[in-house]
Amino acid sequence: METQSKTHELAVYYNKENPFLSKLTDNYTLNKDGSSKDTRHISLCLKGSGIDYIPGDSLYIFPENDTALVNELLDTLELSKEREDEAISFTREINITRPSSKLFKLIAEKLDLDAKELQEKYNGYHSLAIIKDIKKDYPDFKISSNELAENSSKANPRAYSIASSLKAHPESVELCIARVDEEINGQKILGLCSNYISDRVAMGEASVRVYIHKNDRFRLPEDPKTKVIMIGPGTGIAPFRAFLEERNALRDSGQEVGADWLFFGDQREAYDYLYGEELESYREKYSLKVDLAFSRDQDYKIYVQDKMRENSAELFKWLEEGAHFYVCGDARRMAKDVDQALKDIITEHGKDAEEYVKLLKEQKRYSRDVY
Ligand SMILES: Cc1cc2nc3c(=O)[nH]c(=O)nc-3n(C[C@H](O)[C@H](O)[C@H](O)COP(=O)(O)OP(=O)(O)OC[C@H]3O[C@@H](n4cnc5c(N)ncnc54)[C@H](O)[C@@H]3O)c2cc1C
Ligand SMILES: NC(=O)c1ccc[n+]([C@@H]2O[C@H](COP(=O)([O-])OP(=O)(O)OC[C@H]3O[C@@H](n4cnc5c(N)ncnc54)[C@H](OP(=O)(O)O)[C@@H]3O)[C@@H](O)[C@H]2O)c1
Repeated sequence: METQSKTHELAVYYNKENPFLSKLTDNYTLNKDGSSKDTRHISLCLKGSGIDYIPGDSLYIFPENDTALVNELLDTLELSKEREDEAISFTREINITRPSSKLFKLIAEKLDLDAKELQEKYNGYHSLAIIKDIKKDYPDFKISSNELAENSSKANPRAYSIASSLKAHPESVELCIARVDEEINGQKILGLCSNYISDRVAMGEASVRVYIHKNDRFRLPEDPKTKVIMIGPGTGIAPFRAFLEERNALRDSGQEVGADWLFFGDQREAYDYLYGEELESYREKYSLKVDLAFSRDQDYKIYVQDKMRENSAELFKWLEEGAHFYVCGDARRMAKDVDQALKDIITEHGKDAEEYVKLLKEQKRYSRDVY
């Protein structure tokens, strides 16, 4: 009992103001060579933290800037004497990947230019690239490190849906992270946190600042016998890997567990079937039902909602039997289209879709973890 309450106290103790320093213990790309994506499996050690989590929770990670970029940035600024302290605070505290509107305002004031136009021109540029470009036209342009720090946004922690169950991985937390590497306005954008954890953390060093966010709106059914439908394309697979590990552990311990049905999708089956081997083994061992939607394996798109529609009768039957319906991943397009497909399936079966979905939500049987 004493250990449990101590554990609980410690878990509460680690939060945004006081993050736990975790060790990176695993970091590999889930996509195969030839993929256009780089989705990482990340494992962090929680040993000694007393932190616990349950499937559905997320982990926040504090990002750190690329030190080479920070050093080059400091070289181009008007520096105060405490160079080393400054480097540390720049590395950890401010976001130099995405300059803030405040910074554009400051630069515009200094040069008597229009802030909005400046922001448009430099969309996609990081802070160093902007300063370097400005100096080409205005060689006397100066900005101090303090001014930069005060006018930049903070390097805020990023949320990641937890992809593991403590039942399968005691004292660690696993994540599935898409490394953001894109181009805007001819500029390469390397997302701050996804690139930090993928490429800038030394294995085994207790340096990654993390804390757990409890998410009671995304929970497995209280009764394990309830059926579960999971829609999770791309990194949306993350919490469902945790759900499956949790329910499979219950099955292993002899408990009766309802059937699981996963809809997963990504670009191409040969390269992007994230956790494919694991999921295929669950089909065999635990009768996991899997429907796959690989969008770029043919000359037209196939998405998870197309697979839902193909299985309309059975999906509706599962809902009528009390199944819980979960969605995780892209909020902008996927979650909206999946919601529409769900409503169409309900309508097709003679029910009022709005009423039916409202009831599902009231009964906590329709949960989303979208971003
Ligand atoms: C509840 C929740 C759960 C999540 N779970 C996961 C998960 O399991 N896996 C996962 O991979 N992600 C997840 N995310 C997303 C994650 O939190 C981050 O948003 C994601 O990793 C990108 O962060 P980043 O710091 O790498 O990129 P950032 O640096 O924040 O960049 C993000 C975007 O901002 C824009 N941007 C950046 N710099 C510039 C610039 N200079 N000019 C113009 N535009 C710019 C680009 O569009 C870029 O793609 C989740 C989010 C939430 C809210
Ligand atoms: N920089 C890059 O190279 C790159 C690449 C991919 C994603 N990203 C970004 O990384 C983040 C995470 O991406 P992710 O790995 O989770 O995957 P994702 O980009 O959300 O894609 C996963 C799957 O969902 C498909 N999809 C696209 N639109 C859809 C819709 N309306 N309904 C259903 N499915 C849809 C995609 O197909 P299609 O893509 O074939 O349409 C793909 O097969 C996203 O924010 C995304 O914008 C960046």
